Amino acid sequence: MKELISANNLHKSFGSLRAVNGVTLRVNAGEVVGFLGPNGAGKTTTMRMLTGFLDPSLGSVSLAGFVLVDNPIAARQAFGYLPEGAPAYPDMTVREYLQFIARARGIASAQIAARISDVAGRVHLRGVMDQVIETLSKGFKRRVGIAQAIIHDPPILIMDEPTDGLDPNQKHEVRELIRTMGSTKAIVLSTHILEEVEAVCTRAVVISAGRVVFDGTPAEFEAKAPASVTRNRMDYVFRQLTSVTAEVSQ
Ligand SMILES: Nc1ncnc2c1ncn2[C@@H]1O[C@H](COP(=O)(O)OP(=O)(O)OP(=O)(O)O)[C@@H](O)[C@H]1O
Ligand SMILES: [Mg+2]
Repeated sequence: MKELISANNLHKSFGSLRAVNGVTLRVNAGEVVGFLGPNGAGKTTTMRMLTGFLDPSLGSVSLAGFVLVDNPIAARQAFGYLPEGAPAYPDMTVREYLQFIARARGIASAQIAARISDVAGRVHLRGVMDQVIETLSKGFKRRVGIAQAIIHDPPILIMDEPTDGLDPNQKHEVRELIRTMGSTKAIVLSTHILEEVEAVCTRAVVISAGRVVFDGTPAEFEAKAPASVTRNRMDYVFRQLTSVTAEVSQ
């Protein structure tokens, strides 16, 4: 399968803090990568660099074969991005916002209504299309964020905690959507939920203190927690991975 994301040796410092410290990540079409790690590990910072919203202190990113700094327009066309938190433009209605994004994404005017109708159906937004975004519940705001990320049907999707704030039914629906899209796209999603990794991801990449400490299948990740660990399995595995890394680097 075609390599769509190629991030090489990404670093980002904020003052004296090394938030991301040499992350290399390659993702092919057909892969859904669960990007995991404890709070503050550097997931959001890495995703912001993958999408050009933050310049790396060091390192480079190519998306669908376009080097982000050399070909920013082509590279940006190739991905959809669901940032952490709520979408911008709270005073627009959902329809106005999606129309605005569709135009910004260069979708032909004649196709905009059909594209919006399609994504609204996929993420179940049809009932709130003329509601102002800031009056939506958290879960519906999340769906608007997902809709704007997929409106141009990009080959690459970067999603920062896509199911955060959704109720169990909504979580299930979004996971189904991601799984369906994942058969052809390259998807990177961050999550703190182990069952989400099992349900949708083909690969798990763990970062801790800005470094990749694990890259394997979800089953290999989960196998790092013995069956006797029944609560907080993900945190348990993070602790194992971090202690191993600390021993190696001593
Ligand atoms: N703009 C910034 N200025 C200063 N420090 C920052 C900035 N953005 C992130 N950081 C710091 O960088 C580190 C990594 O943060 P990041 O948001 O990437 O973590 P994360 O893995 O996404 O965590 P979470 O699971 O809580 O979302 C943290 O220590 C954070 O406080
Ligand atoms: Mg984050």
